[in-house]
Amino acid sequence: MAQEAVQEVRNVAKAVPALVLQRRWWAVLVLLWAVAVWVTLATHMTDIRAQSIRVATEGARNMFRMVVLTRSWNASHGGVYVPITPQTQPNPYLEVARRDVMTTDGQAMTLVNPAYMTRLIAEKAESDSGAIFRLTSLRPIRPENAADDWERVALLGFENGSKEVVAVTPGETGQQLRYMAPLLVQGSCMPCHAKQGYKVGDVRGGISVSQRYAPIEAATTAGVQQSQWTYGAVFVLVAALGWLLLELLRRRWLDLDGKIYELQHTREELVQSEKMASLGRMVAGFAHEINTPVGVAVGAVSHNEGALDRISAMLSQEEVSEEQLREELADLRQSSALAMANLRRAANLVQSFKRTSIDQTSEQVRTFDMKELINDVLFALQSVLKRLPITVTVDCPDPIRLDGVPGLIEQLLTNLLMNAVQHAFCDGQRAGTIRIRVQREGANVHLEFADDGVGMDAEQIARVFEPFYTTRRGQGGSGLGLYICYSIVTARLGGSIECRGQPQSGCRFDVRFPAERVDKETIS
Ligand code: HEC
Repeated sequence: MAQEAVQEVRNVAKAVPALVLQRRWWAVLVLLWAVAVWVTLATHMTDIRAQSIRVATEGARNMFRMVVLTRSWNASHGGVYVPITPQTQPNPYLEVARRDVMTTDGQAMTLVNPAYMTRLIAEKAESDSGAIFRLTSLRPIRPENAADDWERVALLGFENGSKEVVAVTPGETGQQLRYMAPLLVQGSCMPCHAKQGYKVGDVRGGISVSQRYAPIEAATTAGVQQSQWTYGAVFVLVAALGWLLLELLRRRWLDLDGKIYELQHTREELVQSEKMASLGRMVAGFAHEINTPVGVAVGAVSHNEGALDRISAMLSQEEVSEEQLREELADLRQSSALAMANLRRAANLVQSFKRTSIDQTSEQVRTFDMKELINDVLFALQSVLKRLPITVTVDCPDPIRLDGVPGLIEQLLTNLLMNAVQHAFCDGQRAGTIRIRVQREGANVHLEFADDGVGMDAEQIARVFEPFYTTRRGQGGSGLGLYICYSIVTARLGGSIECRGQPQSGCRFDVRFPAERVDKETIS
């Protein structure tokens, strides 16, 4: 039982693709699916992060613009005066006349230049919102305004034309989102900065805005987590569904494959039994054929016995008529010649029967002549053919000697002949001619088999070699005769078979096969 199951699986395994049969390939598919989901999730998460950085950057950019606006308002006035307080002391770096003034009512005022004002606002902003912005330059007037490493790289970039820089960098309080854009020299800056050699349009420095990255990260985490859950769920769902479908497909496939295998098996059995049946028909034909000569011989021999009796009676008489004796002897000779002729005929029949039946059952390899083989087959079928109004002509001009299994060609011819008798001539209800022509065509043998029977329409011709296709189901047609021809020619002789014809004008089979290879393998 187990042995059988293994055998079955092996048979089945040949036809079912490994992808369906072996579950380990499904694991590979799941793995590929996981990689695909992972890659999309990763890009999606990068997108979410990039999106929140874009939003944060937009905030920083606005802050920058606000600062620039305030600064340019200040610069447009050449600085603004504010009361001197402990927090707002006069700027030691500002070298202008009337830096510190006194109002008429005695209030001390100092001029606040844009850079100083920026610093004052920045201090307030940092204590209020945690955002840091800083005015910096590659050539600072005030040493504390010197750029840090990151800012220096950004400023060098601005001098080469870049418009802004965004980055997430590690800072003192964890990750930081940093934004920086340049401050260009305008006409209003010249009163205080012309002496350093700046021209309008030069990069004087820049403002860098820094924010803690943690709150931004926190805002994205929720979105990221949600996508992780969604992607995870989709992955599991699709993988499970796919696995289920594959399992169903596998079962169905195995099931169908088993059925196909069974069908093939049954078909082979039927083909085999059809072959045996045709052999049976042939044997019956031979029996019938041999009956006549043997019967005649028996008659002749028993006639001889009578003659012998008469002769011995004659010899026991006193007077023997020489003339009478001669007559009896002549009679004896004649009838023994008859017996001899008929026995020879029977012996010939047996000889030819031996040839064809051994050929058809044994797959023996020998050298044979095509014409002789055709005549043997016709001889074997004589009992069928001679009762019917069908003439068979054989045209085989050159001797064609082949080496191989003659039984294959005998079977082919027998089936073609029986097919023609049954279909083309309606079991002999129609009269006609079958023409067999064999000739060499280069390396091939061309066998032409034509009849002038009822013919076939296009649909019948298209299906003529299909197994079990018959127009005579229920009247003894198995539908396997021409299928056997087809498989003999294509699988065993390595050749081709074509069928042509039209309704009411007969049909014609053209068989071509290589002469040097009349199947020598003994597989069936
Ligand atoms: C009223 C004079 C005055 C005007 C107008 C002025 N600045 Fe300044 N600026 C200064 C002084 C003084 C400093 C020195 C340091 C400080 O005050 O922090 C300075 C510093 C700077 C710095 C910081 C780097 C450094 O050198 O320390 C930048 C950048 C800057 N100014 C850009 C500008 C731009 C751009 C304009 C025109 C929109 C402008 N300033 C207009 C006086 C002025």
